[in-house]
Order: sequence, then structure tokens, then C-alpha cells
Amino acid sequence: MGRLPALLPLPSSLSVLLCFPWFLSIISVLTQDPPAQVTIYYQPNKTPGASQTNTASTANYTGAAAYDTTVLNPPGLPNPMPALQFGIQLTNRGMIGMSIPQAGSFMGFSIEMSVANQVLGKNSKHIQVPFLNLMSNLVKRSGGVHIRVGGNTQEFAEMVPSLPNDRIILKDTTNTNNPTQTPPLEYTPDLLYMMRNISDFLNIRWYLGIPFNDTNWRLQIAERGEEILGDYLLGLQAGNEPDLYVRHGHRPQGWGPSDFLSEMQSLVSAIQNSANSGSPYAQKYQRLLIGPNVNTGDWTPEMVWDTGFVDALYDHLLYLTVEHYPADNCAAQFHTGATVVDPQTEFPNYLTHQAGRNLISPYLNSSAYAQSKGKKFVLFETNTASCGGFPGISDSFGAALWGIDYALQLAYSNFSEALFHVGGQNVYYNPFTPPPTNQSTFHQWTIGPIYYSALVMAEALGTTGSAQVIDLSANDGNDYTPAYAIYENDVPVRVALINFMTDNSGTSAYTASISIGGGDTGQPASTPSSVKVKYLSASSVSQKANFTWAGQTFGDHFTSDGRPMGEESIQTIQCDSTSSTCQISVPAPGFALVFLNDKALEESTDGGNGEGGEATTYSTTAVTKTMNTATIDQEVLATSNGHRAGDLVGRMGSTSRRSSGARAGRGVKGMDMSMVVMGMISIQVVGGVLLDGVW
Ligand SMILES: *[C@@H]1O[C@H](CO)[C@@H](O)[C@H](O)[C@H]1NC(C)=O
Ligand SMILES: *[C@@H]1O[C@H](CO)[C@@H](O)[C@H](O)[C@H]1NC(C)=O
Ligand SMILES: *[C@@H]1O[C@H](CO)[C@@H](O)[C@H](O)[C@H]1NC(C)=O
Ligand SMILES: *[C@@H]1O[C@H](CO)[C@@H](O)[C@H](O)[C@H]1NC(C)=O
Ligand SMILES: *[C@@H]1O[C@H](CO)[C@@H](O)[C@H](O)[C@H]1NC(C)=O
Ligand SMILES: *[C@@H]1O[C@H](CO)[C@@H](O)[C@H](O)[C@H]1NC(C)=O
Ligand SMILES: *[C@@H]1O[C@H](CO)[C@@H](O)[C@H](O)[C@H]1NC(C)=O
Repeated sequence: MGRLPALLPLPSSLSVLLCFPWFLSIISVLTQDPPAQVTIYYQPNKTPGASQTNTASTANYTGAAAYDTTVLNPPGLPNPMPALQFGIQLTNRGMIGMSIPQAGSFMGFSIEMSVANQVLGKNSKHIQVPFLNLMSNLVKRSGGVHIRVGGNTQEFAEMVPSLPNDRIILKDTTNTNNPTQTPPLEYTPDLLYMMRNISDFLNIRWYLGIPFNDTNWRLQIAERGEEILGDYLLGLQAGNEPDLYVRHGHRPQGWGPSDFLSEMQSLVSAIQNSANSGSPYAQKYQRLLIGPNVNTGDWTPEMVWDTGFVDALYDHLLYLTVEHYPADNCAAQFHTGATVVDPQTEFPNYLTHQAGRNLISPYLNSSAYAQSKGKKFVLFETNTASCGGFPGISDSFGAALWGIDYALQLAYSNFSEALFHVGGQNVYYNPFTPPPTNQSTFHQWTIGPIYYSALVMAEALGTTGSAQVIDLSANDGNDYTPAYAIYENDVPVRVALINFMTDNSGTSAYTASISIGGGDTGQPASTPSSVKVKYLSASSVSQKANFTWAGQTFGDHFTSDGRPMGEESIQTIQCDSTSSTCQISVPAPGFALVFLNDKALEESTDGGNGEGGEATTYSTTAVTKTMNTATIDQEVLATSNGHRAGDLVGRMGSTSRRSSGARAGRGVKGMDMSMVVMGMISIQVVGGVLLDGVW
């Protein structure tokens, strides 16, 4: 736990792998995979996201939601305005009301099972390099990332030994039993091998889900999951949103929380039968169940607790979980007939401290209850809005600020983890989106605001596992200027400051004056002589891309290989020794993370063990980078086919931007894999690179 593997496992026949014909064979594997024909008809104005006008006049955008161009108007300034100067007094002995200790992996991801083969990789032999880079950035800051592969699609999922063309997932589009248009799917054990291979690169741990569409328990995912993932399997969700089963027609009318408990007990019996009949794995995973995963449907969590759920299943329950989205866009996405929500009207609701607080208040009793039972309480799936989120909100800078405030509020409220959902091309809220399969040769990934929130959260909580979060009710509890302190061992280490307002005149920036000790704390003043500050910035809460975190960005639609671009910039603020305050300015809009001492900064950037905090990253320069530049004539692309793509990749190999690409971010140790293909990497190539001595 904690550190990256120093070296990757060596594959067997390395020298063979280095030669060019093998290289081309990878191409052919990829090109044979329907629907990924590499016949590219690149029509800039018709490709989703290719026309980047990004103004409100493109509201009639009809391409994939993930590249929607709707830009909303930022809400007007609040009336009355908050005070723009306020003090934050911290003590050196903890604060009453601090959260339980939190890990840097607090903010994780939930990846819809049906898109795992787009986001994680094609199969165990072709892992998405941008995905590895994105996770590496987080692991560097937090020590590890927790990811759930599941969602509605897990419920009807069925493991099959193999699928055509080395596919690991196949959707059965003829079956429409499912709620949010996520068709039942078949998957192969290779999905699990792929996850295991990812964990062998980076400290990523996984949640899976046992299908609950009926009670003929299909335990393969648990059996093979435990076998293949071992300690990287964190837990097994049992029942996804059972409080919606009746509404969705998956259980008969009248089926309620106590029926759910009976089914959980039936599942436990099935697992124990498996253990008794010789499964070496059931013994372990019988303790990994996660429930009840209610999602503000027809049951409150208390209705489940009151059945005796926790005591009845105590030894089998790893965490207690809920799922929750603040709003839904189902009417617009699925034409349900309900009133369509207007994103512009909804936008201001996300840009206040009340947003997170209101979301969480129905769960405070449950988080206290979980603590009293000695169980962690986890938000297993969330995001800006269910049914895909809202255009202009879910993909805006405002969502990044919302995500930070919400995640910090969850941590403060004694949740132990929160997983932000990742869907397909048809949702607005993705933290990260791979290009559509048939565009992967000339487009890169699109990084959304929630990914920036995750980066910030990883740094805010750091690697020690001892971070305790407190909502400071700063500025007399004003909703537009929330602030949090993060303590470790009763010492304040970081302060998080949010400004939800947008005002390009600069006059709505605020200044927080932070002091430690002194004042009426009864302690000697111990304000440091200087602090370091990182900013998350954009010009407006409406901005759709190019946000910067400490000066670095993941760019616009289709431009990221998962590594931050630009020079990292960390501000040093000199504090005033006379007044014993550090004055931190926070622009409107903006977020500032203040590191109160150098150790607090190190812990968030180098794994806290002083070994130098460079993220291991993986270059995709060989193909995708150059494809996006003028190096390749679009005319060539437009007439190319699978065969031609091979030639193109050959060309890319010779135009590798090894050093520049590898240094695309300060403090990023480049691990060049110059033979990376189409944004995917063959594991064996890594060995080739090792042999090449580049690592
Ligand atoms: C990619 O596939 C989609 C859906 O099949 C299609 O609409 C689109 O035109 C294709 N794009 C390219 C560049 O081939
Ligand atoms: C865009 O949508 C608006 C209202 O929904 C409509 O009035 C307008 O004609 C549409 N514009 C185009 C170019 O389709
Ligand atoms: C549950 O899903 C499995 C696999 O998709 C399917 O075979 C089975 O019929 C489903 N059960 C019900 C009750 O729909
Ligand atoms: C990846 O998974 C495959 C199974 O398909 C396995 O043979 C291979 O050794 C794994 N690679 C690594 C680096 O673990
Ligand atoms: C809190 O939850 C417990 C367990 O379900 C329940 O007994 C209690 O009534 C709840 N308290 C409130 C104030 O809702
Ligand atoms: C979180 O848990 C701590 C420790 O039990 C407690 O002091 C604090 O009040 C709790 N916070 C909330 C918001 O319930
Ligand atoms: C992002 O930055 C690029 C390069 O500066 C620019 O072309 C693009 O228009 C920007 N996009 C947005 C949404 O600001």
C-alpha cells in the first residue's frame, strides 16, 4: 500500500516484442474489433466537440453529451454580498467537531460496468494509458485510489468464458429489462485480469458487485474476483439501489426492507455453501459484502437499519453504503414526461455551501449510527445529477468547486469515502472520458471538472490516513465563501478555501486571514512565517475546460493523455509576523489549498515518505499526440483504413516526442513508452521499455 511498484513485471520474450511486425499485429488486433473500424472519415465540423465555439448559442448541440458545448451564464453576485475580508482562527490542539480520520483515497470513482472496456482498457493486454496516468496523478498525491466497477449494469451481468475478438464485455441490446438504458451484459474473466494488471502498475483497489436481479445467486464475480484480484478486491456490493427495485419492476409490489434483509441472508447462505463445498475464496469474500446501497428511492436508510440489518449481517458487512445524486435529468434524457429541468435555473443551486450540506443532512443520523456500530459509512455512487447530469453544470468549473465542497463536507460528516460515477459518452458528468472508439487514433481524452475535484481532495487529505476535516463555518457561515481546515494529530496542516462567486472585475475576490494559536485560543501564537498555496482556477463558474490546478491543466475536449500540461506553480505567501496572520486571497471564482507547513505539502505530493514525489506516468506520444498536431495531414486520415493506420503508427514511432512529452509537467518523471498504440498499451511493451533502459 502506498508506493508504486518500483519496476513492472518483466514479460517473457522481450526481444521479439521490440520488433516492428509485432507492433503492427497489435494494430490489426485493434482494428478487427467491431465497432472500432479504423476507417476514419474525419470531418472536423461534424465530429462531436470538433467545433469549439463554446458559447450559449450552441445550445442546440446534438453530439455526444460528454462533449456538449452548452455554456450557461454564471449566476449573478449574491445580495447581500458576503464580507470579503474575514479571519480564520485555528488552534494547535484539534477542534471540537472534527471528522473521524480520513484517507487520501476518500474521493474515488464508480465506473459503470458496461463502459469498463472503454475506460480501463480493451482487455488485460491493452490497458488505457491515459487512464493509468490519471490514476497515477492521484496515487502520487493520496497513496491509492478506490474504484468500483458496477452500477445498474452489474445486476444482470453474466460471466461467460469468452467473447468474440478478445472482447471482455458485450452488451445484450435486445434485452431491455434495465432502468437507465444500460443493457444487460456478458463479460469474461479477462475483465478481472485487466483490473489486476492495472493494480500491478498502481495502487488501485476495486469494488465489484454481485448481481441481484434474481436470487439464483451468480457468485462467479465474487469467486473469480477474489481469486484474481486478491487483496486488491476491497469489497462486493450486494444489491444496487434495492429501494428502486419495485419501481423498476425487478421485485413485486410490497417488497420492502425486511424482504431485502432476507435476500441478503439467502446470499450469505449461498456464499457459505460455496465455502463448504470447497471454494477457497468464499471464506474470504463472505466478509466483504457492502450494503444496503439505498438511493433515496422509497426507503430511508433508517428503514433498513431498523430491520436489524447490521446486526444480522454483522460479520459479512464490510461497509454500510448509500447512493445519492442531488438531482436528476431523467426527463430530458429519457423523455419520461416529467418536467424538464432547465440547467440555467438549476445552476445557482450547485454554487453554494448549502448544496453539499443539504445533500448530506438526511444521512447524518446514519453516519453516526454507522460509527456507533463500528462500520465505515460510504457514499457508493454520486455525481452532479443522475440520468447523465446537466449540460453546462456537470461539465463546468462550477461542478469542480461543487465537487470539492461536497467531498469535504462528506469527509467532515464522517462518511469514509465517496465514489463519483463515470458513465459513457452519453453523460455530462464524467470525471474523464475516453474518445469514442472509432476516434481513438486522432482524439485524446476529455477531462472533466470532477477529476480536478479529485486531485484537490487527494492533496487536501494527503497520504497519512490521519486527516481530520472540519467545516469552519467561516465568514459567519456565508454560503459563498466556505472554508475547511484539515488537521493531522491535532495540528492544522491545510486550509481549503472556496469562492463560489463569479466576477471578472476582480472586486469579489476575498481575503482570509489565517492565524494559528494566539487570539482567544489560550495558546501562544504559532502562525508560520510563510505558507504555500495552490489554486484551482478558471475565469468563470461556467467555463467548460482548461481549468488549472497549480497552473497545470488537462486542456479542452479530446486533448489529454492523462498527464498535467504546463508548469506547476505553487505560490509562497509571506505571513505578517506582527499581526500573526497569513492573508490568502481567493479569486471569484476560485479555490485555494493552503499548506501550513512544508511537510503538509510533501505529504500531498510525494507519498509522504520523502522519497521524491514524481508520478510515474505513461506517454502516449507515439500515436495520439502527433495525430493531434499538424504532423499528419488530415487528408491522409480521411482516406485511411485499418491498413493505413498501421502505416501511420509506423510513422508515429519515428516521430516520438520522447523528451518533451515525458516532461509535460513539472515533477513528472517521464516513463516513455514510445511504442504505445492508439492510446492503449500492451503490457509487454512496458517490458520493452524496461529493457530499453528508459525507466
Ligand atoms: C463513429 O461511430 C459513430 C457511431 O457509430 C458514428 O456516428 C460516427 O460517424 C463515427 N465517426 C467516425 C469518425 O467514424
Ligand atoms: C435551437 O433551439 C431553439 C429553441 O430550442 C430554436 O428556437 C432554434 O431554432 C434552434 N436553432 C437551430 C439552429 O436549430
Ligand atoms: C437475471 O440475469 C440473468 C443474466 O442476465 C438472466 O439469465 C436471468 O434470467 C435474470 N433473471 C431475471 C428474473 O430476470
Ligand atoms: C495481465 O493479464 C494477463 C492475463 O490475460 C496475464 O497473462 C499477464 O501476466 C498480466 N500482466 C501483468 C503485467 O500482470
Ligand atoms: C437514527 O437512526 C437510528 C437507527 O435507524 C434510529 O433508531 C433513530 O430513530 C434515528 N434517529 C433519528 C433522529 O432519525
Ligand atoms: C464525526 O465524528 C466525530 C467523532 O465521533 C464527532 O465528534 C463529530 O461530531 C462527527 N461529525 C458529524 C458532522 O457528525
Ligand atoms: C482551451 O484552450 C485552448 C488552447 O488555448 C483553446 O483553443 C480553447 O478554445 C479553450 N477552450 C475553452 C473551453 O476555454
